[in-house]
Amino acid sequence: MNPIEFGEKTRHDHYLMDQDVTYANHGSYGPCPRFVYEELQRIRFEQEKNPDRWFRLTKYTLYADCVRAAANRLDCDFEQIALVDNATVGINAILKSPLPSFTSKPGGTVLCINLAYGSVLFTIEEMVKHRNMKMRKIDIQLPVKSKHDFIQQFEDELKKGDVENIRLAVIDHITSSTAILLPINELTDLLHEHGIPVVVDGAHGPGQVFPQLSLKTLTCDFYIGTFHKWMYAARGCSFLFVRDTIIANQLQPSNTSWGYRPSLSQLAIMTHFHLQFFHQGTRDESAFLTLPKAIEFADSMAGGFDRIYQYNSTLSQQAKTLLEQRWNTQEKDLVPSDMHAPYLKMIQLPDLVDYKRNDDDAVRLINDLIEHHKLVSIILCVNNELYVRIATQIYNHIEDYIVLADAIDKLKK
Ligand SMILES: Cc1ncc(COP(=O)(O)O)c(C=O)c1O
Repeated sequence: MNPIEFGEKTRHDHYLMDQDVTYANHGSYGPCPRFVYEELQRIRFEQEKNPDRWFRLTKYTLYADCVRAAANRLDCDFEQIALVDNATVGINAILKSPLPSFTSKPGGTVLCINLAYGSVLFTIEEMVKHRNMKMRKIDIQLPVKSKHDFIQQFEDELKKGDVENIRLAVIDHITSSTAILLPINELTDLLHEHGIPVVVDGAHGPGQVFPQLSLKTLTCDFYIGTFHKWMYAARGCSFLFVRDTIIANQLQPSNTSWGYRPSLSQLAIMTHFHLQFFHQGTRDESAFLTLPKAIEFADSMAGGFDRIYQYNSTLSQQAKTLLEQRWNTQEKDLVPSDMHAPYLKMIQLPDLVDYKRNDDDAVRLINDLIEHHKLVSIILCVNNELYVRIATQIYNHIEDYIVLADAIDKLKK
């Protein structure tokens, strides 16, 4: 079978978005291909035919197969990975669990960076309050000239002392609000030298980083990733990876449910870790079960992740160049090119008539573009400048970014 032709044809034939909307923001919420969405509907329909049978019997083996598919695809062991709805669930579980690093000594700090995802920072804030701990935030100064300069900001922070009291560090694989690809292995190794366990928030990593994400080759202790952003699964399909399986079985999901004390028959097909996160009361787990079809879509229909990477990363760079030329905002990069997220780029906007350079106006502009210009993109305020964060997925083509440039031109001073 020949792989599908990317761009407009893929969008028309394989996605469900309104055809009159320009979609330059994959990554926030999906969307997932029609092939996968139809599978989601099929699974829900199966469930509805006999919900008791489904919840008591059918779902366990299907779930175990999906965990196996996830482990196989991400290069880790079955026992090290569980499916969770989203990155939020994974982060909350790690931070709020009785991990040895929290329970062995009272107090201490959680290290994070100002560029972390907003709700992750909220989660840390809330968690430290409850544990009588403190949040220790590195204020990363942008722009940075090199990867080395970025790592240096971590080294400078650690040199300030009180390192023995850092109980955990949270770093991003790809930051959301600045689209920066972090040198996670170098940072993890540095933090490990000081005995600090590391959580990587990889919400945007799987499916975007090249070569394909291999959890075995990373050094972090925990990795949270999504399948519904860049790996084509239906919304609500993410994962939590824990390198040490003893720790994995100590994790407590935010909602305690039947997995807290599972039956022997359930433990015969999966681990306590899996069951804690799988048993979350009565809920629809259909999105988890779309993973095999999502992988089939990427590998067979789309021709594999190497082909996808080639298309998306090339288009991403072309779109960035085009927008910078249109707005005359070249040389405004926040980081060097080897730290650019492959499919996400930040481009500084020109001065606009009705939008000031602040967070509120950035959000107002996102909404106005959706409502009045049928254009989906993300606008962010960084260093008191407005930036657009563009995304490229296999349904995009260069014309999408011309539409974006034209829309912004109408708002220019
Ligand atoms: C870096 C990062 N972390 C965490 C999240 C939260 O992900 P979710 O909404 O799937 O829980 C996001 C969402 O986009 C993100 O970009």
